[in-house]
Amino acid sequence: MSKVEIVEVAPRDGLQNIASFVPTAAKIQLIHKLVDAGVTRMEIGSFVSPKAIPQMADMDEVVAGMGQLPGLHKVALVPNGKGARRAIEAGIDELIFVISMSDAHNMSNVRRPTAASIDDLAATLAEVDPERRLTVRIGLATSFHCPFVGTMDEEAVMATIARIAAIRDDIELTLADTTGMALPDHVGRLAQRCLSAFPQTRWSFHGHDTAGFGIANVLAAYQAGIRSFDGAAGGLGGCPFAPGATGNIASEDLVYMFERMGVSTGIDLAKLLDAAAFAVTFAPDTTGSHVLAMPRERALAGGGPAAACAA
Ligand code: COA
Ligand code: ZN
Repeated sequence: MSKVEIVEVAPRDGLQNIASFVPTAAKIQLIHKLVDAGVTRMEIGSFVSPKAIPQMADMDEVVAGMGQLPGLHKVALVPNGKGARRAIEAGIDELIFVISMSDAHNMSNVRRPTAASIDDLAATLAEVDPERRLTVRIGLATSFHCPFVGTMDEEAVMATIARIAAIRDDIELTLADTTGMALPDHVGRLAQRCLSAFPQTRWSFHGHDTAGFGIANVLAAYQAGIRSFDGAAGGLGGCPFAPGATGNIASEDLVYMFERMGVSTGIDLAKLLDAAAFAVTFAPDTTGSHVLAMPRERALAGGGPAAACAA
């Protein structure tokens, strides 16, 4: 059976934009529910400036309180060397750095131009992980569309990706539709170009569902050959520095689609729906999940007879 990996990002991308502080114990409970559903790789938060993202101010407590969780590959987003050192100290397995393909979004997000972030990344990795012990992933934010400049120029994006790929030959690269405004033809085309230009690189896709094409974009990336996808339980999420962007593609929408297509995700949909129902209690008005909105029996039956949803 073919398979894909679903990387769960609800505890990071899902929560970072929620104004009211989610208590540490609730964050830990969400992480445990997701692990129980079969998630093996998860962004558990970000080691960022608490002034930039107040929701992540309790990262040290979250990591200390969640326990060892031996089957879980623990990922954290870091914006700079300070974040990377904090994450390593806390015992994180994988660092994800976000670099925007658009200078305007990079300035808004981390207050420096894209070229400066690339230089910082090279210096930070040389300093914090000279022996390449950690898994390192780069989120290529605004690969398709930027909230400030619109649709991105593909040639310019490819040139920036080439500079990032040259830093280390073992880094995973994630094409990210930060605003959720990409269309499937664009996603499929850029994914194909990237896979053929950098065949040794491990590629993944991170999408939002703002315009309603999130799952179609995932399918386009899958058909281009990508096999790892980010999702957030309950469809929560959004970048506070990308005005207008809404939630991540819901993990349950990903699991539902792939499993129904005969592609294994390793995730138990019933348990994931429980985790998603819990996640949306933090921000009930922002969920964009389609499968969570279905009657549960119908979602678990993978469609099933119309009578199953008559109530
Ligand atoms: N963790 C904790 N604190 C940090 C930090 C980190 N990774 N990086 C910087 N800080 C602190 C500094 O110590 C300093 O604290 P002080 O005011 O008490 O002295 C303060 O933040 C400002 O530091 P500075 O280096 O001047 O950063 P900045 O104000 O230019 O902000 C970033 C730059 C990158 C740190 C900040 O914009 C950030 O954290 N952005 C995260 C964006 C994000 O997560 N977006 C969503 C995901 S894509
Ligand atoms: Zn995102």
